[in-house]
Amino acid sequence: SNPVYNSFLKCFSDKTKTPQAQNVFSQTNPSYSSVLRAYIRNARFNTSSTPKPTLIITPRSAGHVSAAVLCAKPLNFVFKIRSGGHDYDGLSYVSDKPFFVLDLSNLRDVTVNIADQTAWISAGATLGEVYYRIWEKSKVHGFPAGVCPTVGVGGHLSGGGYGNMLRKFGLSVDNLIDAKIVDVNGRILDRKSMGEDLFWAISGGGGGSFGVVLGYKVKLVPVPRVVTVFRVEQFIESGAVDMVHKWQSVGPRTDRNLFLRMLLQPVTRNKVQTVRATAVALFLGRADDVVSLLRKELPELALKKENCTEMTWFQSALWWDNRLNATLIDPKVFLDRNLDSSRFLKRKSDYVATVIPRDGIESLFKKMIELGKVGLVFNPYGGKMAEIAEDATPLPHRKMLFKIQYSVNWQESSPEIEKGFLNQSRVLHSFMTEFVSNNPRRAYLNYRDVDIGVNDHGPNSYKEGEVYGRMYFGKNFDRLVKIKTAVDPGNFFRNEQSIPTLPSKA
Ligand code: FDA
Repeated sequence: SNPVYNSFLKCFSDKTKTPQAQNVFSQTNPSYSSVLRAYIRNARFNTSSTPKPTLIITPRSAGHVSAAVLCAKPLNFVFKIRSGGHDYDGLSYVSDKPFFVLDLSNLRDVTVNIADQTAWISAGATLGEVYYRIWEKSKVHGFPAGVCPTVGVGGHLSGGGYGNMLRKFGLSVDNLIDAKIVDVNGRILDRKSMGEDLFWAISGGGGGSFGVVLGYKVKLVPVPRVVTVFRVEQFIESGAVDMVHKWQSVGPRTDRNLFLRMLLQPVTRNKVQTVRATAVALFLGRADDVVSLLRKELPELALKKENCTEMTWFQSALWWDNRLNATLIDPKVFLDRNLDSSRFLKRKSDYVATVIPRDGIESLFKKMIELGKVGLVFNPYGGKMAEIAEDATPLPHRKMLFKIQYSVNWQESSPEIEKGFLNQSRVLHSFMTEFVSNNPRRAYLNYRDVDIGVNDHGPNSYKEGEVYGRMYFGKNFDRLVKIKTAVDPGNFFRNEQSIPTLPSKA
């Protein structure tokens, strides 16, 4: 009874030479809701008023993906691609135009080859699965990627991939060897057949602009048998302002084996409103060494050996996922996909290129207390990051001191509550203007933020795209637009923040 479903299903079954009803879901299919909700990771987009896809397609092979692209093209629906569903603003599964969702969660093979220190990781695999499969084969290898185990490879790597080993090994995309993609003509291409331009574009230029990424071949990196983690808190009363101020000169300059993140959160303590600054660290080495390093470089932190725990690199990944008993738990928890679990949240980003003065930190803490809920994460750069050219990958933010994530989560929601928290995050972002990068102000694509501009893909598409595109990619935006125009001139692969084609001269 649904002509779009019937026409798509017939084409898809014909092209794959098998009946495909079990892999195509229309809104009347009893499994439709559970398939859609399984990978919604932001509860803001899991409401009855959230627009829903006309069809969800769940391919089980590269051939299925190719057929899905070819069969969707003539139907004129927006074609959203979803791997792990962690897009902070839900762009992989929401649209205000009629749309399909191509859900890659069944494409989850991870093949680790220790002999040549590489792995093929499929788009629908999660980072937890990647880390677990590496750990199964070797205790001295790892991969530099994000700290949340349910994040999907497809979105994470196509958008850069940032984690707690970036000071030593760079971003995930600095460790790519090859990739497979389905292009707009349904062809399955590898690095050689897609060419260096398209390979460059999908190494950080964002999923959803150039094709469907099937997976990446990555270089594994060496990790020591023993690493150290710690978490130390300070409050305004115990010297947090000085510690955070000094951290700006230490975090990005210290030994590249150390990743020392600062979490800033307004809290009430002993009935007083204050800011808690929590230093969270991964050190690729022993506890004694990091304690003596930081006693010298950041005495304001007052780090002691008893704050530190030594463990394997894989356990440190569990620990960073807030499993503080990491040395005792079953590593298989990283295979748990935690389906259909989400919180209400909003994220934004910024980059800092010069140290914020002490009185700036003080005024920031005051502002955070006044607003009440939004937290900030300061992520140090430096080390390997500063050695990589700004045009080596689409992500140009290499010579920064640190990146800021604005972060607010809430449990119960209503339109008023949501409006209040979104507004808080915008006010804090605006407050930070004088302290952060400008011309253009920078942003990290994987911390998706539709506040910085969206694209309607009408006649002003290029101009609209330039607004967020320059913030995410700086000068690299121009090369991305040229590649987009060459590989997908009809703009089939598009979303609210995708790369536009060049405006036609007519
Ligand atoms: P999702 O499936 O939502 O895709 C994100 C975007 O990529 C969408 O535009 C989508 O269309 C596109 N896309 C997805 N798969 C594609 C494919 N196969 N081919 C083409 N396009 C594709 N980031 C980080 O760098 N470090 C971190 O530590 C974290 N931590 C973190 C924790 C949590 C809880 C969340 C919700 C998010 C993060 N992130 C992060 C951000 C994360 O890297 C970012 O949201 C990724 O794009 C998510 O990839 P998914 O495949 O899960 O998302």
